[in-house]
Amino acid sequence: MPRILLTGAGGGIGARLRKLLPPIYPDLVLSDLKAPADLTPSEKFVAAELSDIAQVKKAVAGIDGVIHLGGFSVEGPWDTILNANIIGAYNLFEAAREAGVKRIVFASSNHAVGFYPRSQTIDTQVQVRPDSRYGVSKAFGEALAAFYAFKFGIGCLCIRIGNLGERPLDERRLSIWLENSDLVSLIRIGLEREGLLYEVVYGMSDNKRAWWDNSRARELGYLPKARSEDFAAEILAAQKNIKPDPVGDFFQGGTFCADEFANDFDMLKKLKP
Ligand SMILES: NC(=O)c1ccc[n+]([C@@H]2O[C@H](COP(=O)([O-])OP(=O)(O)OC[C@H]3O[C@@H](n4cnc5c(N)ncnc54)[C@H](O)[C@@H]3O)[C@@H](O)[C@H]2O)c1
Repeated sequence: MPRILLTGAGGGIGARLRKLLPPIYPDLVLSDLKAPADLTPSEKFVAAELSDIAQVKKAVAGIDGVIHLGGFSVEGPWDTILNANIIGAYNLFEAAREAGVKRIVFASSNHAVGFYPRSQTIDTQVQVRPDSRYGVSKAFGEALAAFYAFKFGIGCLCIRIGNLGERPLDERRLSIWLENSDLVSLIRIGLEREGLLYEVVYGMSDNKRAWWDNSRARELGYLPKARSEDFAAEILAAQKNIKPDPVGDFFQGGTFCADEFANDFDMLKKLKP
């Protein structure tokens, strides 16, 4: 059985994976800045600040595969993004290389490509268009994964997660929702699929209103089970109470695109795909 490290284990996704992963990977090691308050005696935990490579090396020692969720998970001040997501991701990949880790699943984000319009269906071959410093850090993480895959042979799967949760939360999330067990299926592809070297997929469930072409994920064996459309009527009714946001509603990244936006919106709307 491989020994798997889950970084960011104290976060929102980490809390869900701590329940779902142990039956699949009994030898699971958790890491975060500090132990989750509800850590059980059967869980192994190693504290590590990602920007401190000595701490990251301790967490990665003896590990076969990493699920890298740790980092700052929304837009934030540059120093925070730099330390947690840029230096932190570098330290994680570099420590993993030194430790002989074979696979890394990187939690990328839809915000790496947030500035595509919702009217355009994009696959994973498109250029990145980050909508935030956070999105830039995720594009950096994808580049880092490609470097460690092609240069050092670590199999890497970058999952551009849409929005994870028990249910989609609004109209935008009907297009990008990812249900917990579907995330686990993607993670298993990243850690177990034979011959995987470097892949980028979208982390979404079976969403009828998707604006992503996730055929690469399906070629790799992904068969999402959850369907956002089952929640559509209820979500669309509730959406009527949410104030329209011209920029955020136009682009895939939503409010991340609208925040600090200072460009010519009419010009951007006319750009050809
Ligand atoms: N939740 C989503 O729907 C979603 C969507 C797209 C991408 N993602 C990505 O998935 C990952 C997990 O998301 P989440 O929603 O659980 O986020 P979260 O913020 O709940 O959890 C992130 C965890 O990382 C830890 N962390 C932050 N800075 C750190 C540092 N310097 N050193 C060590 N640990 C640090 C935090 O303590 C936290 O527990 C993140 O990388 C996020 O960017 C999440």
